[in-house]
Amino acid sequence: MPSTTSEPAFVRRAGVLHAEHVPLPAIVAAVGTPAYVYCAGTIRDRLARLEAAFASVPHRIHFAMKANSNLAILRLLQELGAGVDIVSGGELFRAREAGFAGRDVVFSGVGKTVREIEQALDAQVLLINVESEAELVTIDAVAGRLGTVAPIAIRVNPEVTVDTPHAYIKTGEKGQKFGIPRDDVARLVSLVRELPHVELRGLGMHLGSQIGNADPMRDALPRLLAAIAAARAEGHAIAYMDVGGGLAVPYHAEEPEADIADYAGVVLAAARETGLTLLLEPGRFLVAEAGALVTEVLYRKHAAGKDFIVTDAGMNDLVRPALYQAYHRIEAVESAAGTIVADLVGPICESGDFFAKDRELPDVGAGALLAVQTAGAYGYTMSSNYNSRPRPAEVLVDGDRFAVITERERLEDLVRLERAHLQWRTA
Ligand code: LLP
Repeated sequence: MPSTTSEPAFVRRAGVLHAEHVPLPAIVAAVGTPAYVYCAGTIRDRLARLEAAFASVPHRIHFAMKANSNLAILRLLQELGAGVDIVSGGELFRAREAGFAGRDVVFSGVGKTVREIEQALDAQVLLINVESEAELVTIDAVAGRLGTVAPIAIRVNPEVTVDTPHAYIKTGEKGQKFGIPRDDVARLVSLVRELPHVELRGLGMHLGSQIGNADPMRDALPRLLAAIAAARAEGHAIAYMDVGGGLAVPYHAEEPEADIADYAGVVLAAARETGLTLLLEPGRFLVAEAGALVTEVLYRKHAAGKDFIVTDAGMNDLVRPALYQAYHRIEAVESAAGTIVADLVGPICESGDFFAKDRELPDVGAGALLAVQTAGAYGYTMSSNYNSRPRPAEVLVDGDRFAVITERERLEDLVRLERAHLQWRTA
């Protein structure tokens, strides 16, 4: 039975951490560690919550697949009726493989190549979100060459203050590379009228990621609405208003569940005022809490008065702590007797390779399994082969069943694209 559950994805039964109804040690016995484990029921639940929150207006939820672009996860969301927000030709390819049609796709991103624009037009995507004048002109030229008209949206940078846990995940503030500065929008809207191969169908914005309250949205929406009104006044047939993604999820145990009612209230009021179809681009909200990175403890180490727990997962598998000083909850898969203040570190030759610093952790030794929680978003998609480490396996759990959705990379995969015999050429 497919599960939809508002229960936490990972629950402890008889001392053992389960993903839905599957004990994590059983998954590890089948696929080894490190492994990403995702719970389908939680993904279904989060999508259902968003659908319910926005049910009163015409809307479409476009999953920002940069958060988790595994084909099985995409298929799950596709079957539930979601669309996708993509940022590259590679994501478009994955989306198509997963069964999304062009009309299910909005194409964001600040640096689309001519090839990517061609691919998007070929696929007949719903909207290409324009992020600069130069890009607008390029899209017009490419569409002209292909004998078509590109449906576009202008991404407005509303230039509001955004409070995110790390500067690298802000986007809607002044001076960011993203979007068209709000003072420039009117000029671009007028320019569209002079370009025969683009049609302005929407206006949008994306304020940042892991935004914990509706204040930035409250500040930004009037600016988006003003841009929409101006575009309509110029005769553009605007059909869509895109408010981007950014909904926060709790990473700390004591944090409450994300409350989307406030956010939805603010957005719904604006959507009603315009009468437009509302587009949302949540990434993290749909998948973060559904996933954990399961790792095995390799060693305990005591050095310079400190305790270290060394795991077989590293920053190449989950880079968020190293890159954003991000906090991820750590749980012992089999209940530990006590706790110890220690650093939880990976095997990689970098000081930044840690999952927790000076934190109270389960007092576990070699061979124990740990779950790094809330790793379903921006985990595997940001992983790398650094230190020539094959990427981990990914597993999807649904009720009492589990399936491998990505095989663990093999050593041969590491060198598959490298040439043993070089074919030297001269210019
Ligand atoms: N739409 C656009 C145009 C975006 O750039 C993003 C995220 C989203 C939607 C989805 O945002 P979300 O709902 O997931 O917050 N790697 C970082 C997050 C980077 C987000 C980039 N853009 C992290 O691990 O926290």
